[in-house]
Amino acid sequence: MKILITGAAGFIGTNFLKYAVPRYKDIFFYCYDKLTYAGRLSNLVPLLVNDNIKFTKGDLTDCDLLTAIFSKENFDAVINFAAETHVDKSLICCDQFIKTNILGTQILLQISNDFNIKKFLQISTDEVYGPVDYPHRLNEAACLKPSNPYAISKASADLICLSYFRSYNLPVVITRSCNNYGPYQFIEKQIPLMIYRAMNNKYLPVYGNGSNIRERIHVEDNIRAILVLLEKGKAGEIYNVSTGIGISNIDLVRILLKRLNKPESLIRFVKDRINHDKRYAMNSNKIKKEFNWKPEIDLEEGIDTTIEWYMNNYEWIKGCFTEEFNLFIETNYGELF
Ligand SMILES: NC(=O)c1ccc[n+]([C@@H]2O[C@H](COP(=O)([O-])OP(=O)(O)OC[C@H]3O[C@@H](n4cnc5c(N)ncnc54)[C@H](O)[C@@H]3O)[C@@H](O)[C@H]2O)c1
Repeated sequence: MKILITGAAGFIGTNFLKYAVPRYKDIFFYCYDKLTYAGRLSNLVPLLVNDNIKFTKGDLTDCDLLTAIFSKENFDAVINFAAETHVDKSLICCDQFIKTNILGTQILLQISNDFNIKKFLQISTDEVYGPVDYPHRLNEAACLKPSNPYAISKASADLICLSYFRSYNLPVVITRSCNNYGPYQFIEKQIPLMIYRAMNNKYLPVYGNGSNIRERIHVEDNIRAILVLLEKGKAGEIYNVSTGIGISNIDLVRILLKRLNKPESLIRFVKDRINHDKRYAMNSNKIKKEFNWKPEIDLEEGIDTTIEWYMNNYEWIKGCFTEEFNLFIETNYGELF
């Protein structure tokens, strides 16, 4: 079996490959990534010694390059991780989100359809549902009410995926997971940012009053869900992947500080994000019932191993501060990093 993995050098892509490449020797993983500021080839270098993996640098919107690769490689399946993923950035410069997340996905779908791909797994997010009032939890049939440009671009991609299933019978499966955390997550995201800042005794910025609620899943639990869906997910279906446990941002930061042995006086409440969704909440009964998947790593255990990874990989953190990212920070974030 041969699978195209887009966005392979990002956070979830890297963790997916580190998990899957040594375990599935009969699968060939063809990795494709533009290597934006969020993607790092060095994440994958240790894996590239294996016979069942290869890397090509390329853009999701590069129809000619992708078509040439598809004609040569005869893929059975595609997993589309590639995306612009930072909500704050989408509020500042939305165009790249539209280009990669919507147009890029459509181009990939079209080529996958032209080459009769047997499964197209779209990696989506709980953000497509928009905010959810307590105590409700949404299943896959819920309406999409995305708020920010990132969420809107992902919801649009989901709808285009479904249109390729309905119009052309392309066997698309969509997975919508809650917030992932774990090793290799870019420093702009909340958990690594807090760990990095706390390690350096810098204040921890918390949006608004910190009451916004998210579900947090360890990336390895999500990867097991992705692998189940790659094998068994039904064409045209959507599967939520979540823990069922919401945690407020402020409680999360308190847990991080406690595990890092740092004082709560480092917390600083800052101006809220524009249009900040109050609460995301899904139920994952479908994937649990149909495929017996469940999350296995509890938050405190997952946070401990994540902190340990960042502490042991400070050079990796420093590698986030490329010229491109530094410029973005300078023009948009001031002293935050
Ligand atoms: N991290 C989460 O909490 C989370 C939760 C739910 C869904 N998702 C989805 O999972 C996927 C992976 O997320 P992540 O956290 O690993 O993101 P990430 O930002 O760490 O990685 C994204 C990768 O995509 C690549 N990329 C960006 N634009 C590209 C383009 N035009 N062409 C080719 N490659 C491009 C980047 O170089 C990077 O390697 C995304 O689709 C995201 O929407 C993430």
